[in-house]
Amino acid sequence: MTRVLYPGSFDPVHNGHIEIIETASTLFDEVVVAAMINTTKDGVFELDDREEMITVSTEHLSNVSVKMFSGLVVDLAREIDADFIVKGLRAVSDFENELQMAQMNNAASGIHTLFIPSASRSSFLASKFIRDFARYGGNISGMVPEPVAIRLKERYG
Ligand code: PNS
Repeated sequence: MTRVLYPGSFDPVHNGHIEIIETASTLFDEVVVAAMINTTKDGVFELDDREEMITVSTEHLSNVSVKMFSGLVVDLAREIDADFIVKGLRAVSDFENELQMAQMNNAASGIHTLFIPSASRSSFLASKFIRDFARYGGNISGMVPEPVAIRLKERYG
């Protein structure tokens, strides 16, 4: 049985993330999605809100579970006995940072990171732009799961 950990800030989860989760759920026996803190980004939603939005948006996937964790990815990977870390790649611009994190995590714990490329239809999606659109009344339909659209509307009106 292969269990993978898909960590991210998911602030909030969008359809590009859901696509990666769906793909991972077909490739691996068990997928654990973890809402985590990215210290280079200012968090908007609380971690437990992010966890809840991912949970309701992945209810259709029986081998996916969701957590929140404030700490190191490698510590969570060890705690849940993950075989691999999984990350999505939207574009070459993602790669440099992702490669460095993968190498750091591998050096620290021996765990390998597997990359799943996003489909071109999702490659422009980014939580920070979706928050901007929601804040200023832009159209985010088709970019986020419906429960997330509702939460964004509640937050930004
Ligand atoms: O969705 P993001 O913002 O690209 O996710 C980045 C995230 C949360 C996976 C990364 O910042 C992270 O791993 N945070 C947890 C702390 C940690 O392990 N840092 C060392 C990374 S080498």
